[in-house]
Amino acid sequence: MTEIAFLLNGTPVRVADQPPTRSLLDWLRETRGLTGTKEGCNEGDCGACTVMVTDAAGSRALNACLLFLPQLHGKAVRTVEGLAAPDGTLHPVQEAMIAHHGSQCGFCTPGIMVALAIAHAQGRADTDDVLAGNLCRCTGYAPILRAARAAAELPAPPQMAADASALSSFIVPQIRPPETRASDAAADTAPPVFRPTNSDDLAEWYAAHPEATLIAGATDVGLWVTKQLRDLGPVAFLSGVADLTHVETRGKVIGIGACVTIEALRRAMRDVHPAFAAMLRRFASVQVREAATIGGNIANGSPIGDGPPALIALGATLHLRQGDEMRAMPLEDFFLDYGSQDRKPGEFVAAVTLPSEAPALRCYKLSKRFDQDISAVCGCFNVTVEDGRVTDARIAFGGMAGVPKRATAVEAALAGGRWDEEAIRTALPAFAEDFAPMSDMRASADYRLDTARNMLLRYFHDLAGRPVSVLEVSP
Ligand SMILES: Cc1cc2nc3c(=O)[nH]c(=O)nc-3n(C[C@H](O)[C@H](O)[C@H](O)COP(=O)(O)OP(=O)(O)OC[C@H]3O[C@@H](n4cnc5c(N)ncnc54)[C@H](O)[C@@H]3O)c2cc1C
Ligand code: FES
Ligand code: FES
Repeated sequence: MTEIAFLLNGTPVRVADQPPTRSLLDWLRETRGLTGTKEGCNEGDCGACTVMVTDAAGSRALNACLLFLPQLHGKAVRTVEGLAAPDGTLHPVQEAMIAHHGSQCGFCTPGIMVALAIAHAQGRADTDDVLAGNLCRCTGYAPILRAARAAAELPAPPQMAADASALSSFIVPQIRPPETRASDAAADTAPPVFRPTNSDDLAEWYAAHPEATLIAGATDVGLWVTKQLRDLGPVAFLSGVADLTHVETRGKVIGIGACVTIEALRRAMRDVHPAFAAMLRRFASVQVREAATIGGNIANGSPIGDGPPALIALGATLHLRQGDEMRAMPLEDFFLDYGSQDRKPGEFVAAVTLPSEAPALRCYKLSKRFDQDISAVCGCFNVTVEDGRVTDARIAFGGMAGVPKRATAVEAALAGGRWDEEAIRTALPAFAEDFAPMSDMRASADYRLDTARNMLLRYFHDLAGRPVSVLEVSP
């Protein structure tokens, strides 16, 4: 049991009778009768459940299927039912979708409406990116894109700004967690739920509850509940831990808090490490990036996570905290083996630090689809060349081993040598020393090795300023 309060389509609601891992999607549909928010995949892929969530940082599109109710405490939620004005006047994107025949079966339409309405209010014209996480199987996207373009001419209606102003006067009730409510008999048996607001409280609680599951963006953990039907036991929600959401530059070092979302990281990296930012644009979809955190992306230890290879190539340092103890290590040392990380009980990822300058960094994500797909291979390169010779090489891959891993043999083969195509080709056999990748549905082992070698060649040509992107497909 947990108690929370938030605004739902402009009206304050207080929820006290739901388990902490109840998804917003289930609650909206089953408890509030708000069935406009659809359940398609229930795992973050289709966007049919897109809602608008507003807090002090602004409004964003999120997937309601991967949002646990406690993550909404003190925020505002607007569903497709709240897009029209109180007098029933449709939102301009709704009008435009009708006019441009943007909906056939209509199942995807509510999610698309919410995603487009948020982008419309933000003045975004990159509709391909905005809709990368909204799957439409029957209309086709041309009429939807035409509708988005037509609506762009019209002003955003007042209801799109109503949540931000209502939140400024919304007095968020101070609600004690169940474990502190002595009079609540159910609280004695229910697993503890903790919603810390700072990392000191988190450190103290987690040290006392090392068996607990930390929930940051819930884009991994959500699936443990929706797909694996797991009972999580004690949980701590990190979404309110304000001091883990910093992106700060001090001198030549950037510090990034564990709870920084991938979308916030992408924006922060745009000017400093544009290649990293461009790769993060292909991390899942807007809805997932707005929820997923860099701390979760590191802590889950996934061999195919997109953050770690780039961070390792940058020479990032990981900062862990257990109680009052902090320790730091090169990020690559954190990943011990498949499913195993160098993390003690009750220890959490606090931050990552990285250099603010790495002009030679390039990141290449290879996946079956351009948008909203997990990497088959993700290769990140950061080679320093002085007077035609390699003075430093950091190369890291995802999808090539059981962990995100540095290509140390390739780096050694390049070190001190000439930086030309002949020397690079001589280094290519070293990939087989570094990696013995597996075959799976994303790629065969041979393909992975070939593609990793080709990425190094691509990097060479990329640094030389030759065009290496073959993305554009024009009608
Ligand atoms: C549709 C979809 C598409 C995706 N596409 C991509 C993709 O393209 N690239 C990619 O890399 N990933 C992708 N993912 C995976 C996922 O989004 C990322 O791994 C994400 O960064 C996880 O972050 P989170 O905050 O949501 O973690 P959570 O789900 O909250 O947590 C993940 C794990 O990390 C732990 N954890 C979280 N924060 C901390 C912390 N500070 N300290 C210690 N432990 C912590 C949790 O206990 C849990 O074990 C996708 C997921 C979905 C659902
Ligand atoms: S139901 Fe598909 S993303 Fe939520
Ligand atoms: S209108 Fe049918 S899925 Fe999009």
